[in-house]
Amino acid sequence: MTHADILETAVLHWADEEACARAARALAKARPEDAVITLEGDLGAGKTTFTRFLLQALGVQGRIKSPTYAVMETYDVGWPVAHFDFYRFRDPQEWEDAGFRDVFSVPGLKLCEWPEKAQGLMPVADLAIRLTILEDCQRQAALQAHTDAGRRLLRALMEAHDRV
Ligand SMILES: Nc1ncnc2c1ncn2[C@@H]1O[C@H](COP(=O)(O)OP(=O)(O)O)[C@@H](O)[C@H]1O
Ligand SMILES: [Mg+2]
Repeated sequence: MTHADILETAVLHWADEEACARAARALAKARPEDAVITLEGDLGAGKTTFTRFLLQALGVQGRIKSPTYAVMETYDVGWPVAHFDFYRFRDPQEWEDAGFRDVFSVPGLKLCEWPEKAQGLMPVADLAIRLTILEDCQRQAALQAHTDAGRRLLRALMEAHDRV
């Protein structure tokens, strides 16, 4: 992930966790079948929380583990989904050995926490989401589309946002 053009941006204010869930449901409505979505922000910002809401909205049932230790958890929602947490990712060789290169080389939804820890290996994100803790349960979510696919998702999310 090096320099990437910014095609479109949006900023959401989440007053509480339900607002986070609403944004996730709106994104699910856009049917992100083949996209790289990155989630940046401090520990506790809500990256995993947003991802869990998104996976649930896409139909994943049961407990959704944070990939903190495994680095990757995969799902099938009618299309493949991989949820990464690169926080502990250190060794570029693992990109090959753990099969991450293979995952990124085929269509599917890739949700990536801590993309900056896999810099140089990650492709450009279609949609980058940066979460900032404001106070208490409030969060700011800054969205950036870096590709046409990402722009489509961002627009669909904003469109559906007040209806889900
Ligand atoms: N508006 C909000 N959006 C997302 N999470 C929130 C919000 N308000 C409070 N939280 C809480 O903040 C924490 C975020 O943790 P987590 O999603 O694991 O963060 P991260 O993956 O970014 O480290 C959770 O305990 C969640 O319940
Ligand atoms: Mg997390």
